[in-house]
Amino acid sequence: MNKKNTTVRHAPGLTGLSRAGFSSGFGVLAATLGSAVGLGNIWKFPYLTGANGGAGFLLVYLLATLLIGLPVMIAEITLGRQAKANPISALQALAPKGQPWWLIGAAGMLAAFLILSFYSEVVAWVFAYVVKAMRGSILSSDPRVTEAAFSALISDPLQSLLWQWGVLVFIGSILLLGVTKGIEAMTKKLLPVLFLLLLLLCVVSLSLDKAAEGLAFLFKPDFSKISASVVLTAMGLAFFKLSIGMGTMMTYGSYFRDDQNIPLTTLRVMSADLCVSMLAGIAIFPAVFTFGFAPAAGPALVFITIPAVFSQIPLGQGLMLAFFLLAAVAATGAMLSLMEVPVVILHERFGLSRARATVFTVLLLILLGASCALSNSALADFKLFGLTMFDLFDFVSSNIILPAGGIFIALFVGWVWGFKKFRLALGNHGQLHNEKLARAVFYLLRCVSPLLILIVMLKGLNFF
Ligand code: PHE
Repeated sequence: MNKKNTTVRHAPGLTGLSRAGFSSGFGVLAATLGSAVGLGNIWKFPYLTGANGGAGFLLVYLLATLLIGLPVMIAEITLGRQAKANPISALQALAPKGQPWWLIGAAGMLAAFLILSFYSEVVAWVFAYVVKAMRGSILSSDPRVTEAAFSALISDPLQSLLWQWGVLVFIGSILLLGVTKGIEAMTKKLLPVLFLLLLLLCVVSLSLDKAAEGLAFLFKPDFSKISASVVLTAMGLAFFKLSIGMGTMMTYGSYFRDDQNIPLTTLRVMSADLCVSMLAGIAIFPAVFTFGFAPAAGPALVFITIPAVFSQIPLGQGLMLAFFLLAAVAATGAMLSLMEVPVVILHERFGLSRARATVFTVLLLILLGASCALSNSALADFKLFGLTMFDLFDFVSSNIILPAGGIFIALFVGWVWGFKKFRLALGNHGQLHNEKLARAVFYLLRCVSPLLILIVMLKGLNFF
């Protein structure tokens, strides 16, 4: 931790004053992990795995993470650190004059709004469950009871809206007060606790009657269940999980220190992120089979299964409260990183103060997010392409914008920025000797990743 390093800057959200960087190596790791680990692990991963047939989906997801996610994440962080600017300005600065690569940043801003619209609603459910857990009203192993509790919440338009507004105002205030640093410090301390609690849940779940069935579902691939759209969903999840393809990691990269080892940090973040998802899967599927839930229950899965697992142990109510609180903390870290993209772009590109940019973003999200908050009640029948706004925003961001962003980021590095600059930036301008690694990542980015993403997208979207 070289405090004298003149290139060390402090992130805007971290000081509330000026654009700068994360001050220590561990801070970088924690903040990046704080963005990656969120409801994607605890909510989205289990429900998508359940809805798409289990182990086969998991396998494709792992492959997509390694072959596509890892190189794209490295590329994004490297570009961000090199340019030290928001995604739009970064790509403008690094690209030859007149070429429109900055559009990746603009698309990223759109993705951030779409994701925040439905994500804030899921966080709203988590917050509501914190209160429910305090009251103890949902602790039961009877699927009918936990399902009824969840549908009562999501089908109530007023509750859905109010909780969502609460969440948006809460996150906005964190950004406004400039206490992001406090939140990041808290996330750093609380993520290990979440990890421990998930471990405990796994132990409980594994002791249940039909644990073996749950594990087989999660780990024994049935290849007949893998279709083109399953592959697209798995790849979309890989992008969503690692917060890539939309400029979040580029923005965080711009706060990285110049002596930070990017590949190593990325590898650590990816491994820790996978661990959390796996634990969530192991905690949930044995219970799903034991208590007779449907693995394909969709977005409700976690909210109906977790109370059932906690109902099996002493102090279940208190521990469940802790679980949803920790989930809320993890979700907060991810939401902060999502909001950072539009806020920093509005601030640096459109000249709004950070405070104004934050208020504008929150207000826009209150409007846009309502369409997702009401997707299970007042707007349940309002569908485009057969999807509610909640599902549509999720689908378009994860399965179209993020992968497309990934293609262009990979192509930009592989064909425009070029190997020499990439290697220098990735090797910290001569400090690290990771030439072979740089070459391998570069060729993945130049040829393999974009082609793979394109094929999966076109096939998954039924283009051929
Ligand atoms: N990775 C976060 C999660 O899994 C979500 C996210 C997506 C955050 C894109 C930032 C950007 O919860």
